[in-house]
Amino acid sequence: MEHDGTIRRVEAAVGRSLMQIALDGSVQGILGDCGGSCSCATCHGYIDAAWSDRLPPVSETEAFMLEGVPQPRETSRLCCQIRMTAELDGLTVHLPEEQV
Ligand code: FES
Repeated sequence: MEHDGTIRRVEAAVGRSLMQIALDGSVQGILGDCGGSCSCATCHGYIDAAWSDRLPPVSETEAFMLEGVPQPRETSRLCCQIRMTAELDGLTVHLPEEQV
């Protein structure tokens, strides 16, 4: 979901990162400046609460990078660090306004 409430539904190939999937789908609000190497935090998103406990744990590097995002929340993740799986079909990510 884009920061203004626009809901975008995109095809998500298993194995691709949420960042790559968003870029493939021309979703506004994901930049992915570092290409997915966990060094820019321009793929910040808020994972819908219903899904947050189904994701892989936050790595030390991701946690460090999340400390620098403008409006962190408990559900903040870097979308390049989450790979799509069949179990995540239907996952909703809310995107922050500062990445537009
Ligand atoms: S794309 Fe740079 S941290 Fe995710």
